[in-house]
Amino acid sequence: MPAEPQKPSPAPDGPRHVALIMDGNGRWAQARGLPRALGHREGVQALKRTIEAAPTLGIQCLTVFGFSTENWRRPVEEVSDLMGLVRTYVASDLKRLDRAGVRVRILGRREGLPADIADIVSRTETSTAHNDKFLLQVAFNYGGQSDIVDAARRHFERQRAGEAVGPLTEETLGAGLSTAGGPPVDVIVRTSGERRLSNFLLWEAAYAELVYQDILWPDYGAEALADVVEQYRRRDRRYGGLASGADVARAAG
Ligand code: IPE
Ligand code: IPE
Ligand code: MG
Repeated sequence: MPAEPQKPSPAPDGPRHVALIMDGNGRWAQARGLPRALGHREGVQALKRTIEAAPTLGIQCLTVFGFSTENWRRPVEEVSDLMGLVRTYVASDLKRLDRAGVRVRILGRREGLPADIADIVSRTETSTAHNDKFLLQVAFNYGGQSDIVDAARRHFERQRAGEAVGPLTEETLGAGLSTAGGPPVDVIVRTSGERRLSNFLLWEAAYAELVYQDILWPDYGAEALADVVEQYRRRDRRYGGLASGADVARAAG
């Protein structure tokens, strides 16, 4: 991220919001005979390159999957390496992100996080809350299913407490998700060749475009992200309707 934020180029065709499943750190390291931890460390460099490139491609929001609710199943050393990277990344990059006008939001459950990480999460959100040039959402201790369950639970708790929350609808539930208030997800990208969501943004994926790239996350950067934008712009998002004139004419005639 440069000290002076680059002006986003106008992008009438989007995507505005790109969500990334940053996968393949372990395989990147393994292929080089290195410990997995080094793959994660390189993954942080790839994240920095990607955040820097996003505004130049007209992207206004990035959501990245950093740690899933299922990643606790990994060996304790690896979990602790990943937590350690959060500490060093925030310590080294928060000021730069803030200067560039980036608002950082953390998606996911705070319970279960080591106390100092939960504290870093809150401080990061508070100290960048005033920024509006770019939104960076980091899904950490995040699971799409638990996010939906949490939103539903909060809805019924407020109802039990006597609040006029109204019926549970797509709108009221959606408003309780950790992504609420941000722009809709235009495209979900998964790197490393795997073709699954692994519990990422399940609700938000409803009409998002899906892009799979064979590149391992530590090799990611501006070029790969530009390819996502190009692929996205060739898609026809119909949301169940008939978008193109030809389709409408055919349906009518
Ligand atoms: C993604 O890389 C990072 C996290 C899940 C935290 P992986 O660690 O899953 O890498 P692979 O899939 O084993 O190669
Ligand atoms: C998803 O990747 C989680 C993150 C990228 C943080 P995983 O590597 O954990 O997913 P699976 O286990 O291959 O489905
Ligand atoms: Mg993986």
